[in-house]
Amino acid sequence: MRFSNSFLDEIRDRVPISDVIGKRVTWDRKKTNASRGDYWACCPFHGEKSPSFHCEDRKGRYHCFGCGVSGDHFRFLTDLDGMNFPEAVQQVADLAGVAMPQPDVEAEKRDRQRIGLQDVMEVATQFFEAQLQTANGAKARAYLRDRGLTGRTIETFRLGYAPESRNALKEYLAGKGVPKDQIEACGLVVHGPDIPVSYDRFRDRIMFPILSSREKVIAFGGRAMSPDAPAKYLNSNETELFHKGNVLYNFARARRAMSGADGAGTIIAVEGYMDVIALHQAGIENAVAPLGTALTENQMALLWKLTQQPVLCFDGDGAGIRAANRAVDLALPHLKPGFSVRFAMLPDGKDPDDLVRNEGRAPFDKVMAQARSLSEMVWLREAQAGSFDTPESRAQLEATLKQVVSVISDENVRRHYGQDVRDRLNQFFQGASRRENGQRGGFDRNPRQGGGSRNGGQGRGGQQGARMSERSGISDRLARSSLVSGHQALPPLRESVLALTIVNHPQLLFEEYDEISAIDYDNRDLQRFWSSVLNAAAAKGPRLSREILVEQLEAEGFGDLLKSLDQQIRFARLWTATTAAAPEDAREGYLQALALHQRTKALLWQRRELESELAYATEEGDDDTVSQILRNLQEVQLEVARLENQEAIIDGFGVLSGRVKGPAGK
Ligand code: UTP
Ligand code: MN
Repeated sequence: MRFSNSFLDEIRDRVPISDVIGKRVTWDRKKTNASRGDYWACCPFHGEKSPSFHCEDRKGRYHCFGCGVSGDHFRFLTDLDGMNFPEAVQQVADLAGVAMPQPDVEAEKRDRQRIGLQDVMEVATQFFEAQLQTANGAKARAYLRDRGLTGRTIETFRLGYAPESRNALKEYLAGKGVPKDQIEACGLVVHGPDIPVSYDRFRDRIMFPILSSREKVIAFGGRAMSPDAPAKYLNSNETELFHKGNVLYNFARARRAMSGADGAGTIIAVEGYMDVIALHQAGIENAVAPLGTALTENQMALLWKLTQQPVLCFDGDGAGIRAANRAVDLALPHLKPGFSVRFAMLPDGKDPDDLVRNEGRAPFDKVMAQARSLSEMVWLREAQAGSFDTPESRAQLEATLKQVVSVISDENVRRHYGQDVRDRLNQFFQGASRRENGQRGGFDRNPRQGGGSRNGGQGRGGQQGARMSERSGISDRLARSSLVSGHQALPPLRESVLALTIVNHPQLLFEEYDEISAIDYDNRDLQRFWSSVLNAAAAKGPRLSREILVEQLEAEGFGDLLKSLDQQIRFARLWTATTAAAPEDAREGYLQALALHQRTKALLWQRRELESELAYATEEGDDDTVSQILRNLQEVQLEVARLENQEAIIDGFGVLSGRVKGPAGK
């Protein structure tokens, strides 16, 4: 049942949210100000002793400052009481004394039709699955076995076989009473004005069902087994159920794998069905694939709904590199703060399926570990395109890069890209001029040397370059060292603070061992780093000293990381994380970083939930729910942006009144 926005607004406006929530919590008398419609309680979603759960009648929203939950009347009921949405609406409508609206007959008819088609697709899937196990399917079974797929994998992906005969499926479905127009609407037969008798679209092919984000079969890919078949893969045509540019193969399972207990935290886009399946069998369950086309803008958006930094995986050959460059251009205009893509390039001529076939996941993991950032891809693409041994060619490179960056629509991201490009150009040309003149360049450090001309531009550009590098000497060097060594980017600052403070002040760890040891780092390097720290802590207990810990971390190969964390922290002037900080200052700084971290995590989690709900609702075409979710999302987004700002300030140039004290009381 659909509900109009105006109806939902009406009942929400009539019922104070405190009435809904008040049935389930006891308000805190001290903090609550009922006359202002401002209520506080211990959060019913997470156990706590002091009230950090807040709701405001004027806004009709609740928010917990402890665990980050937030929502409106309906969300409270669905999330706390496990009602479904219509039940929650019914309950609020009852409280409001408003009758439920009459169902929208047309919309529901469309829903039913769609469900009808889904049922047909399900029957077809079962037919193909069963055929694979019959004598008809012997050749197909042998083919799949040769390609190394286990019975379990075949079951998981519901692989099947479409028999050779022209009418096998059509007759089967007709026998089940499925009307002709539905079979046609599903794209299961080839039909049309010039085709007197329709016939099965898929014949003598291995069948790969394509599932919607709700895990309903909405289309098929069919692979021919014989190398001289006219098309290796044949895919369903566009139907009411299936718009191929909006769908990714294995989307729902990858989403689950990504956020599961040992979730990989990201999504990997590969090229083909078989790649997804082989990766799954090798234990990498978070891969998706487009459906026979290059990645579309909508598919990119889908990836970004699941994760901020999806990894796109391409063949290392010429075609793969061209495809990667297309994806670069596809992604650039849509970048948002925090949202990007990474690029994993496979060894020449191998697809992921080849890579994991014999040696398991290790070779693929290696490829993933070497994934490049988008900014690096942009840089490499242009800088490898020619030789830049003359001022004119350098000026041209600079102009091209400016042009590329200009398509980024988000102002902040564009500005940072501009800076990234300038940093790289400086570094690159400095090397070039050193080679040319046999002397140290240094033009970007000294405006008098006329940095402008070597910068490829006059006046303003040159001065800007000079000013920038004076200001960011350390970050420049950091950028360079990571550019040269190909290391992944530095961790988010708050994570670095969390990790480094403990290294420099290990006793803090033992003050709140459970909470601190459980900190969940996003940054891969820090995850490994942290488990080393915990090992050392487990071995030594509270006697663990900084010296012992550092020695062990260096022995385990974390020396470089430790150094760059230290530089990062110093650059940000976060002295509380350094050895110089007094223990109580270190603790204070640490707790602030921890609060920020947890808040951010909670919000990002919530955002991810909302985004996947949005994906559902969008696909179902449920406009009311979509706009509802969009509103919630907007709020969360605002809060995230606020936190990110806070972090950006920390990350800035030490504009941190009160938050951090310089050494020696500066
Ligand atoms: P590939 O040709 O790389 O095939 O096509 P693959 O995935 O490695 O498949 P195997 O290993 O040979 O079985 C990649 C993807 O491009 C689409 C399919 O979606 C395929 O998974 N494709 C390819 C087509 O749609 N039609 C084709 O004829 C070929
Ligand atoms: Mn392949």
